[in-house]
Amino acid sequence: MNKVATQSHAAASPPTGTCYKVLLWEEGALAPEQLHAWQEARRNLLSRMRDAGIKGARGTLARLGEELRELSEQAVVRPLDTCAQAGLSLTRVGALAAKLQSEVTVLAYRLSPCSAAILVELSGEESLDELVKRWSSSTAELQWCTTPLIEALSAAEAAEWQESCRAEAGTSDDDTEADEENAAGFHHVTVLRTEAVEALQPAEGRVLVDATLGGGGHSELMLQSGATVWGIDQDPAARRAARKRLAAYADRLHIIAGNFRNAAEMLRAEGLEQVDGILADIGISSPQVDQADRGFSFLAEGPLDMRMNPAAPRSAADIVNTAAESELADILWQYGEERASRAIARRIVQERTKAPITTTTQLAAIIASVLPRKGKQHPATRSFQALRIAVNDELGALDALLESGLDLLKSGGRFAIITFHSLEDRAVKRYFDRVTRPEIDRPEWPAPRPNPEYAARLVTRKPIVAGEAELAANPRSRSAKLRIIEKL
Ligand SMILES: C[S@@+](CC[C@H](N)C(=O)[O-])C[C@H]1O[C@@H](n2cnc3c(N)ncnc32)[C@H](O)[C@@H]1O
Repeated sequence: MNKVATQSHAAASPPTGTCYKVLLWEEGALAPEQLHAWQEARRNLLSRMRDAGIKGARGTLARLGEELRELSEQAVVRPLDTCAQAGLSLTRVGALAAKLQSEVTVLAYRLSPCSAAILVELSGEESLDELVKRWSSSTAELQWCTTPLIEALSAAEAAEWQESCRAEAGTSDDDTEADEENAAGFHHVTVLRTEAVEALQPAEGRVLVDATLGGGGHSELMLQSGATVWGIDQDPAARRAARKRLAAYADRLHIIAGNFRNAAEMLRAEGLEQVDGILADIGISSPQVDQADRGFSFLAEGPLDMRMNPAAPRSAADIVNTAAESELADILWQYGEERASRAIARRIVQERTKAPITTTTQLAAIIASVLPRKGKQHPATRSFQALRIAVNDELGALDALLESGLDLLKSGGRFAIITFHSLEDRAVKRYFDRVTRPEIDRPEWPAPRPNPEYAARLVTRKPIVAGEAELAANPRSRSAKLRIIEKL
């Protein structure tokens, strides 16, 4: 089934009484004749249920109820689950999410590009019909269906659905023992911790985005200052570790599962238009490299994976076993600056015709057979970096964050980025340069002209790097560069 992108949310409070699951969808998301047939059949079933109720025929009532559920599942829920209408986006439906929380107890919701499933518990002050009408009119730009699907759920059924939303959002508290161990064993030493956090001037009442939550090292310092933090990470293991580490700040920490390339869209769906600061500590975390089964390291046997988001469609093995030789060579050259890119790509293609390349050590040995070891660095270092960048489209995600970051900031808001290699730093430096120049000049122009993109000032001209103490304590900090701008 072609599942569409969804965004889920679940509140911490569990259901206590009767709950309602309301499914709203945009008119036009379902075929009119299909919808009409469902409405007819539903009307018919509801009137038979009313009759059975009057007669006290409980068995018939239960059977008809089940039939109604099955009919709605087939005619509405499943088609909506696969509907990705052109022109509709989570942001549009997400406008509703911003309005949900303040009105009643919203236990959970799941937004798709053209539908919203919302689990509510009523306080008794407002009827469900009034509530649904208000939701529909509060997002007038969306033409909601006039007959939403409403299902009454027992507290147990509601808790089950709430849990599934939580799991989908990567916020499951129902961790297995292995997850507990992973969370406890998530060791990532935060780089430029004070410098990066201070750059955002954290304080009570300020709203900050940690676009790369990881183990929560930077977020912790932000939270300690009293700020509210929205933490984004695409790796469920990182989110779990951060949630555990930062449990004491749960009221001010909001964790979002997703790629920071969609930060603006995801935050707007949560009702956040502008924030006081954004931090991105780009790249991978130590546990991603250290855990052999994530497939990032050539030093340990593991599946050739390298996905930060384990649900992403393309692993390193997919690229290595299916990409054309020229594409492989380009990846190794562009993202790894590997001079032997063509020879390595040729050898990979020769080897994969004999047997698929499925493990990290298998690929490392193939690369080493082309490129004998020189000095301290393993010959596979650059190729593994290149593949990792390609698998996670790291430069594409960084570009998207850069392009959307300033819009997300209030005037005076700060944007801080830590990079670990020259490709990333170049992208940040170029972008920061582009938006902080008041004027641009070209040789063919008689005089400089105002820069239409001018929107920020550089907080420090040169990047901030790790000091001696940090370098001694954490060798990974050697290549870290922190650049900061402030929106005008
Ligand atoms: C260097 S670690 C961040 C460590 C964190 N600052 C700390 O102190 O614990 C980078 C994290 O960002 C996440 N990440 C990298 N690229 C991402 C992207 N495009 N979208 C969301 N998360 C991303 C990784 O999964 C990883 O957990």
